[in-house]
Amino acid sequence: MTYDISAILLDEEKIEKRISDLAACICKDFENKTPIMISVLKGSFIFLADLVRSLTIPVEIDFLAVSSYGNSTVSSGVVSIKKDLDVDVTGRDVIIVEDIVDSGLSLKYITEYILKHGAASVSTCVLLDKPEAHRDDIKIDYLGFEIGNDFVVGYGLDYAEKYRNLPYVAILKEEIYS
Ligand code: PRP
Repeated sequence: MTYDISAILLDEEKIEKRISDLAACICKDFENKTPIMISVLKGSFIFLADLVRSLTIPVEIDFLAVSSYGNSTVSSGVVSIKKDLDVDVTGRDVIIVEDIVDSGLSLKYITEYILKHGAASVSTCVLLDKPEAHRDDIKIDYLGFEIGNDFVVGYGLDYAEKYRNLPYVAILKEEIYS
């Protein structure tokens, strides 16, 4: 699996340190509150697991699955819900947890979807942002890292469902997906 990697972009230590900073900000902003953390599957499952274990406030957790990529490296621009929410978000503070923002279409769609379901507030917590790829105005409240336009895998992120279990974020060799 590591033969397919051209470089490690963010190692475990860097990710861990940044997540603990993000968690401290969230704890401060949501003191005396119990937000619902909504993890967007599948890519954010590792980020969520590390993030919530760094939080000292009570939280509830739910999952939403959307897809706009399939097995392609380029967003199709069409977002669809593959697994809906289980919890009622009416009147609740919600924090969307995403692994990556690329075009931003998924995050925008999910934010509007949760607001439409009556959430009192919707914040966004994103590990990786590719600002050069945005196709719309995107609001990220808690951001891990800004990255370039390379295709990255690992720490939850896949290419054709592989590489999610790498413990770091890495750049995939172009020959693998071209
Ligand atoms: C990825 C990622 C985001 C979305 C970002 O999900 O997890 O949800 O794409 O892209 P965008 O900003 O262009 O909308 P993907 O559809 O690949 O599913 P996965 O999380 O199951 O890998």
